[in-house]
Amino acid sequence: MINEHHKANQITISNGDCQKVLETLSTEDFQMIIADPPYFQVLLEENWDNQWKSEEDYLVWTEDWIRKSSRLLKDDGLFFIFGQLGKREHLWLHVCSMATRILQFHDMLIWDRIVGYNERYDSFTPCYEMILVLRKSKEARPYFDKDAVRISYDDETKRQYLKDKRYKNLDARRTHLEKGKYATNILRVPSLKGSSKEKVGHPSQKPIKLIEMLVLSASREGDKVLDPFLGSGTTAVVCQNLNRQFVGIEIEKGYVEMAENRLKNEPLSLFTPASISA
Ligand SMILES: C[S@@+](CC[C@H](N)C(=O)[O-])C[C@H]1O[C@@H](n2cnc3c(N)ncnc32)[C@H](O)[C@@H]1O
Repeated sequence: MINEHHKANQITISNGDCQKVLETLSTEDFQMIIADPPYFQVLLEENWDNQWKSEEDYLVWTEDWIRKSSRLLKDDGLFFIFGQLGKREHLWLHVCSMATRILQFHDMLIWDRIVGYNERYDSFTPCYEMILVLRKSKEARPYFDKDAVRISYDDETKRQYLKDKRYKNLDARRTHLEKGKYATNILRVPSLKGSSKEKVGHPSQKPIKLIEMLVLSASREGDKVLDPFLGSGTTAVVCQNLNRQFVGIEIEKGYVEMAENRLKNEPLSLFTPASISA
């Protein structure tokens, strides 16, 4: 039985198994899908990360939810899948290879967590996660607004650029600089520390600012966004702040309650587009 817990502002949260809930949703309705799935035996104390007998089982399960989600993506939509480094890294490569046979490869984003996590002694300290971006087909032309996530230049950089003698029209140059620069596909957003005000107690909670950059660039106000692995509700909070319609699915009741509490309490957006900060 699917339990629709929270339905306000067109934010819908279902407490259930996404494999089942995804089948109940209407087709080709979602402008974007953000999926941050279980990693496979990285968080050993979490049941949700240890539900499979083998790596092969995990890949079969992964293919199933990717296929079921793909059916829901609009023709000009984008599908973002998080991949965690560390113990799961080779499996993640298999996930990417399999997913790009279901949908068309569009991009691979790097989430630079800024501070590494000291998990490896036989290599460099891991410091990034990946986000595989897929579109519907080779021919599909996805909606993407680069201007929505321009990053401000700092004052010193602006001063240096304005000193450049090659620019004759300083006003035009200043206006150009105030617009900020395009964000690259390396998203530099610090991961949440234990002491962060944003932290609500989920072991793999993503920063609001990171999810905001995805939502702002790949959807417009009023568009529908899907997150099949809601966790603490980060995508729901972002969609509420940015006036997107939202459907989230989460198997654990405790996390559904966590997400509902965040929706009641969360402060406003954290990403400040250059157009606003300038
Ligand atoms: C990596 S976490 C997502 C964290 C989330 N992005 C956040 O910012 O809090 C994955 C979540 O998927 C949930 N989950 C695992 N299997 C599921 C399933 N079959 N259907 C729905 N949710 C599931 C887990 O309980 C966990 O909360």
